[in-house]
Amino acid sequence: KYLSEDELSDECKNLLLTLPKERGWLVSHIYNYQGFWIAPRLLQGVIACQQQFQAQDSDIILVTTPKSGTTWLKSLLFVLVNRAKYPIFQQTHPLFINNPHDLVPFLELKLYSDGRVPDFSSFTSPRLLSTHLPFASLPKSVQHSTTKLVYLCRNPRDTFISLWHFSNNLKLDHTDVNSMEEMFHLFCKGVAIYGPFWNHVLDYWKQSIEKPNKVLFLMYEEIKDQPKIQLKRLAEFLECPFSIEEENCGVVDEILKMCSFQNLSKLEVNTNGKLSSGEENKIFFRRGEVGDWKNYFTVEMSEKLNHVIQQKFQGSGLRF
Ligand code: A3P
Repeated sequence: KYLSEDELSDECKNLLLTLPKERGWLVSHIYNYQGFWIAPRLLQGVIACQQQFQAQDSDIILVTTPKSGTTWLKSLLFVLVNRAKYPIFQQTHPLFINNPHDLVPFLELKLYSDGRVPDFSSFTSPRLLSTHLPFASLPKSVQHSTTKLVYLCRNPRDTFISLWHFSNNLKLDHTDVNSMEEMFHLFCKGVAIYGPFWNHVLDYWKQSIEKPNKVLFLMYEEIKDQPKIQLKRLAEFLECPFSIEEENCGVVDEILKMCSFQNLSKLEVNTNGKLSSGEENKIFFRRGEVGDWKNYFTVEMSEKLNHVIQQKFQGSGLRF
């Protein structure tokens, strides 16, 4: 469970008083901590995770900006890495009865969310974990170990639209919908949970170039476009490549099918279940398509975000 603002430690409450704040998407304000934006109720989990998490060399950590396809990649990672332990053709596979967020838990949003040391005793090696933290804010032990980081990025236009829907869905009072115009203005200024989006993406992009064995940079659109190639790339990066026999038996296709939007979104656990933090599992499955932003953006919005993207990503080698 997340802490309420009243339940935060005095240390956290005092820290919040010193941090820059802006209008939030879900709560009245979000705060700039270490250069990224975070909701107050999440701050204690972030700090606890930074101070206490001890990475193991064999850990695999999935890193994303919110709404870039985390749920999808969690499912692919889990099924891929555990395919010896949980054979994929079995009806009793854990993916069919658990939401991917329960199979690959968030560090700061779940395991450390109440500020206490979590119990890792039920994890088997390699531990599959996830985070939205920017590279510079990762727990030091992650940076100093051989822990592998899988980074997933998505076109900022679709990420924005997905985030706008998600935040409206999470609002308890659905009548009080965030105006798209106001949220878009904030997003373009970099004010979005774990944002600025560009800083998050660029930092991991640079790391993936400098340390290709440590950080794998994946794109949502590329997985949609070339799923087999990208899944094989992921398997090789994680040092669990597909054997010729597996390829011949259709294992790659089967994993993609199991983790497809069509399959996951129809499972009972994902239509009626809830996360321990209270969110309904179904809000993680909306459309799962590329280019939905075209159904929402005005010409002015397109021009404005194009300009920001051009400014922020020019010279990086990344194109959106
Ligand atoms: P849309 O809102 O554009 O539909 P996250 O998992 O990071 O919260 O991202 C959620 C986005 O990923 C949503 O995008 C959701 O529909 C999409 N998504 C969820 N499962 C997916 C899957 N199996 N394949 C493709 N996209 C998926």
